[in-house]
Amino acid sequence: MAEFKMTPWEVNGKIDYTILERQFGIKQINEDLLERIKIQAHELHYMFRRNIFFGHRELNWILDEYEKGNPFYLYTGRAPSGNMTLGHLIPFLLTKWLQEKFDVEIYIQIPDEEKFLSKENIRDINKQRELCYDNILDILALGFNPKKTKIFLDTEYASVLYKQACRVAKHITFSTVKDAFGMKNETNIGLIFYTSMQAVPAFLKSIEVGHNVPCLIPLAVDQDVHFRVARDVIGKLGYYKPAILHGKFLPGLDGSTKMSSSNPNNAIYLTDTHEEVIKKVNKAVTGQQATAELQKKYGGDPEKCMICQYYKYLFEPDDKKLEAIFEAERTGTILAGEHKKDLAEKINRFLDEHNKKKKEIKDKLDDYIIRA
Ligand code: TRP
Repeated sequence: MAEFKMTPWEVNGKIDYTILERQFGIKQINEDLLERIKIQAHELHYMFRRNIFFGHRELNWILDEYEKGNPFYLYTGRAPSGNMTLGHLIPFLLTKWLQEKFDVEIYIQIPDEEKFLSKENIRDINKQRELCYDNILDILALGFNPKKTKIFLDTEYASVLYKQACRVAKHITFSTVKDAFGMKNETNIGLIFYTSMQAVPAFLKSIEVGHNVPCLIPLAVDQDVHFRVARDVIGKLGYYKPAILHGKFLPGLDGSTKMSSSNPNNAIYLTDTHEEVIKKVNKAVTGQQATAELQKKYGGDPEKCMICQYYKYLFEPDDKKLEAIFEAERTGTILAGEHKKDLAEKINRFLDEHNKKKKEIKDKLDDYIIRA
């Protein structure tokens, strides 16, 4: 059995998704559910088709309610510890698609206190604010609907959030979070409290409108633990427990499970220059044979080739084209050099476009940000 360690603040080793299901009760998104999403959305996002979003809690219920004419709202978030990477975009891309297809509202939480509390090397909470606003531009550049998207920093929206967080916190003991997160007695008390802040947007809409509204939370699977702790409490407070959608991590360029933002060569940042992208992609693990001759003879394994995987996760939404790329890898008709060159070009084109949109959204921030 693969060894891995996963808390929201640390992910190490190779993640075994079947353990997640057995130990944590995360259900797999099965064919029936995919069919139901497809009926409602009129298509299936490639992240669903490819099992990149693989797990859920109570997605059936969200769809039941939606079919009855009781729409849900979406909630997700990002706690900045640095510039955003390609991997960070995955949950936001799916969330944006869900917003478009289901025509629903989104709350995006930017907990500017979280990484200040969890990371030794982040010492200045004021600097977090700048970083947050830059990350917000990256998120909004993906094209969320300004009429249906609210985004907030915890410290700027605290007078609304804090009161509700206290209501949650009263029902969570230290021993519960200690177990759930592997905390120690030395863990700072800010971090012990933090889960209650992350819980609030999952019922905030219900408070605002004065009746219960279903909430769906797309997230990267390491975030599930906050809601394992908070869902029952939210239920106890009289609100609907939120439903969850679980996504996998974009693998690192070296083939590790997660594109880690703390290892800069392993991750592509949205701020990387063309040269940096080319350099990093050139170093990516391809799983190809030692020489061009051997590769042509035996082919490679697309599952082990990070170039193929980056197409799968982000850069080739068309299944037929993806299969052609995988097939070229398997049969050795594409060699590593060409493969890498193509991907680096695609990434650079994406980043150019992204940075253009990021600039354009700058003046429109006030359409999205809420403060108290
Ligand atoms: N804790 C998340 C992070 O480290 C940020 C976050 C806040 C979040 N609320 C969320 C993520 C809800 C997913 C869903 O980035």
